[in-house]
Amino acid sequence: MEHKVYLDRNENNYGPAPLCFEVLKKADYSKLSCYTKVFSSGVKSILSERLAKEVNLPENRVLLGYGAEDLLKQAILCYLGKDEKLLIPAYSWWYYKELASEVGGKNLEYPLDEGADSFHYNFKKLIDLYKKEKPKAVLISSPNNPTGNSISLSDLTKLLAELRESIVIFDQAYAFDGFNDHLETLLKDNPNLILIRTFSKYYALAGLRIGFALIGENIQKLSRLTNRYLGFNRISEEVAIAALDSPEYYRSISYKMKKDKEVYYSELGKLNGFKIFKSDANFILIKIPKEIYKKLKEFMNGKGLIIKFMNEELLNSHLRITIGTEEQNLAVVNAIKEFAENRRL
Ligand SMILES: Cc1ncc(COP(=O)(O)O)c(C=O)c1O
Repeated sequence: MEHKVYLDRNENNYGPAPLCFEVLKKADYSKLSCYTKVFSSGVKSILSERLAKEVNLPENRVLLGYGAEDLLKQAILCYLGKDEKLLIPAYSWWYYKELASEVGGKNLEYPLDEGADSFHYNFKKLIDLYKKEKPKAVLISSPNNPTGNSISLSDLTKLLAELRESIVIFDQAYAFDGFNDHLETLLKDNPNLILIRTFSKYYALAGLRIGFALIGENIQKLSRLTNRYLGFNRISEEVAIAALDSPEYYRSISYKMKKDKEVYYSELGKLNGFKIFKSDANFILIKIPKEIYKKLKEFMNGKGLIIKFMNEELLNSHLRITIGTEEQNLAVVNAIKEFAENRRL
């Protein structure tokens, strides 16, 4: 079978830190037969305990789930009732659009503005819509998928101050910066905040299915819903901790990915009709001329280079390319350049 390179789902193709494989090799198989006893020390998991230390929060403010997807779903299940409103970004991960309907709620989209080289949240429009519609919950994503833009801490702080009447779900699945001190302050100041992160992207452990939420003090109902009294996957917890124990590995691949992003900007930015959006995530969004869309898709598929050709109402002439390994990125950039040269773009 022809070898295909998948750069369409925002996975991290560098793979997890070597220590994660060591943990699997040395796994204590007796753990497979027995539930954890960690609850006797007053915490729900060795992983939530470890994450709490990383962010300097009490353990009961760290929730675990089967990926960020699962925590988003549980948060909506917990807080959104029938006919209640959820505000989501107009350009966003397709699954956001499904969430409200899963509980009979209503989606309302707030706009993002397209700037010269990046998308931006339009805070004024968001807040106006918020005041008018009084939603039960607001979803914000930073960096946002697929636009790649993020919100600065000062903008986020100001925004959260305006959204105090609702539950705010802040999806940071694409945080590529490890942990910083500001998370603790943010959660202290915003009792209705649910900040969601994952091991899928930065930590290259999408197949492990572990996400976590850091919560403000009013989010106890979600804490009860997500709690698992018989514990979580004991082997996965250890793999995730091995990832947390490997900061240098992750810093180095994250650095390589940042450098490779520059190659996309410099090489593809030269092509006629291509607009490359600035991204803080492990993917980039590119607007291309509509007339080459179908042909480019066939060309890339023919080379086994699978990138995402967006097919949404607002983004229908756009590609989203996951930043892969150096070699994969070069293959994608060269293929697109070859296509463009043949067409004299
Ligand atoms: C914005 C966003 N949030 C959350 C997720 C889900 O990640 P996880 O693998 O942790 O479920 C994704 C997956 O692509 C995503 O794009």
